Amino acid sequence: MPGDRAHPRAALDADSVRDAYRRWAGIYDVVFGGVSAPGRRRAVAAVNRLAQTAGRRVLEVGVGTGLALPHYRPELEVVGIDLSRDMLLKAQERVAKERLSAVHGLLEMDAENMAFADGSFDIAVAMFTASVVPDAKKLYAEMARVVRPGGHLLFVNHFAADRGFRWWLERSTAPLARILGWHPDFKLSDIFGPETRIERMEPCPPLALFTLVEVRR
Ligand SMILES: C[S@@+](CC[C@H](N)C(=O)[O-])C[C@H]1O[C@@H](n2cnc3c(N)ncnc32)[C@H](O)[C@@H]1O
Repeated sequence: MPGDRAHPRAALDADSVRDAYRRWAGIYDVVFGGVSAPGRRRAVAAVNRLAQTAGRRVLEVGVGTGLALPHYRPELEVVGIDLSRDMLLKAQERVAKERLSAVHGLLEMDAENMAFADGSFDIAVAMFTASVVPDAKKLYAEMARVVRPGGHLLFVNHFAADRGFRWWLERSTAPLARILGWHPDFKLSDIFGPETRIERMEPCPPLALFTLVEVRR
């Protein structure tokens, strides 16, 4: 609840996300690629495993520069969406350069208001994106809508600590969300409700900074 916070959370909106990722696009892979790699690899490994029984239609929400794309099994049908044209251009370059046959489309689209019909996908995955979108509850609702009943939703993200130095740092940097392009104080309860069917949570390196969450639709 906003009232809980010692520091006000700066609101992100679509324009501030586009502005932030216009600035990040050229250096994103160098700055974030390394630290986020283990979490991304685990999320894609989970998608590859689940797809064997759930089906091959995969949506990657907030695909960014496409760092995850080379790791999907080639028989999958992956569609990636992102709000930032600058990030998508990098992803398109990667797909062309590496001839990634699993990638069936890269679209400029708002994850909070997707153009896909209900139940279009078997699996939807959001890597390091839930704390970036302006409204994570809307993101969740949309991902649940476009995944068929019985399908899977996966998230890998940093979730805020509830004590100690990290807690202090995350709360202190919360007002910088519009400059950073994400909410440093993002909590599990910012996206999941009591009704969410969380099937598995797995801490990811480095230092369990990130968590992989698997949800059943
Ligand atoms: C931190 S980056 C993560 C990129 C990628 N998933 C990765 O693992 O590196 C977050 C991405 O989410 C995108 N994004 C933020 N809000 C969005 C929205 N409402 N709809 C679609 N993409 C969004 C940003 O443009 C950015 O590319």
